[in-house]
Amino acid sequence: MTRSVWFLLVLLAISASSCKEEVDECEANTHPYQLQFPDYFPILEVPSDNPLTEEGVQLGRRLYYDPLLSTGGPREGRSCSSCHFQSNSFSVPSTASGSSVLPHVNLAWSRNFLWNGKLEGILEDVMLFEVNDFFEVDFNLLKEDAVYPELFRKAFGSCEITDELVAKALAQWFRRLKSSNSKFDSYLKGEEQLTDSELNGMTTFFTEKGDCFHCHGIPLMTNNEFHNIGLDSIYDPTVKDRSYISGSPYDRLKFKTPTLRNVELTSPYMHDGRFVTLEEVVEHYNSQVKRSMTIDPIMTKPGKEYGLQLTEEEKQNLVAFLKTLTDWEFVNDTSLSSPF
Ligand code: HEC
Ligand code: HEC
Repeated sequence: MTRSVWFLLVLLAISASSCKEEVDECEANTHPYQLQFPDYFPILEVPSDNPLTEEGVQLGRRLYYDPLLSTGGPREGRSCSSCHFQSNSFSVPSTASGSSVLPHVNLAWSRNFLWNGKLEGILEDVMLFEVNDFFEVDFNLLKEDAVYPELFRKAFGSCEITDELVAKALAQWFRRLKSSNSKFDSYLKGEEQLTDSELNGMTTFFTEKGDCFHCHGIPLMTNNEFHNIGLDSIYDPTVKDRSYISGSPYDRLKFKTPTLRNVELTSPYMHDGRFVTLEEVVEHYNSQVKRSMTIDPIMTKPGKEYGLQLTEEEKQNLVAFLKTLTDWEFVNDTSLSSPF
């Protein structure tokens, strides 16, 4: 072979390898993330184009805690975590808006979101709304950031940062926000006993006596449906209940059933935060249910004309049971706290 041919071959090899490097630059580098939960949990459905990975979950975590996400938008200076505190099960003690912040717990198994179900679908859909409409994220800030381009490349093999990828990362993080290590879970797994008081409260909860389980069943402690539990008897058109979304008068006064997991940490209670203590909530179900056209039939079924008629002790026991739903590991887990 002549020298010039060699030269040409070398040139070709160099250009081929540099070409390959360019492709590599945008290649993902992921490790699968295994989410552990008890076998009495429903199957976790994960979209095939967004499998859980270590890199995706970590990126979602960072975005969740980063005020950069709101910079220049209507929620300037906030991060998701400024209204969703880990110590409160990713809820917050009280809000200026008068609406109660829903906790971020086991939302991977929900398809209805927000108190009135304004958002529907899988987490990717919901996060797209949070990113584009709620925060109005300026994606240029993420692109110009010192670390995000690299993190997006690793997690998704993309040199671009788009709303869809930000939503995907957040969706992975939300799947990671899984709580299944309460005292009640240990009891279900046969690892721990409940006290007499807790057991008594549990019986009220899971039998016709209290009827709580119809809407707050095992294991999620919510059916993720909408009900009118008799908080008010008169429909107020300024309150954005389920009917505000569906347009149906049959949905008036209805709201999403919140999970009771970690409920001890999510005061104030109900969509408008009207109750501060669990005792007040129990008293509502016990004696203050107000009738209206759309009230859930369980609230007023035969035998409940005068409420649940629980004794003082039974009410305390019910509260004691509700507190067995607290997952201290979840709220203290440092792998769920701020990475900054
Ligand atoms: C200014 C406070 C605030 C900030 C910041 C905030 N949230 Fe929320 N979030 C709320 C409130 C209040 C609710 C309940 C509102 C409702 O249902 O109408 C809620 C509810 C939610 C829900 C629905 C939960 C359920 O059970 O249906 C999701 C999902 C959510 N937030 C995600 C996010 C994400 C993601 C971010 C960051 C991009 C974020 N939030 C930032 C206040 C906030
Ligand atoms: C018919 C369905 C249904 C039944 C039965 C039911 N709940 Fe609820 N629960 C709901 C809904 C819906 C809400 C939210 C209502 C709202 O804000 O307007 C709620 C809210 C709560 C809350 C407040 C949680 C929070 O984070 O704000 C607690 C605590 C609670 N229920 C406990 C109970 C107990 C204890 C029982 C049994 C005595 C019970 N529930 C029976 C549907 C139900």
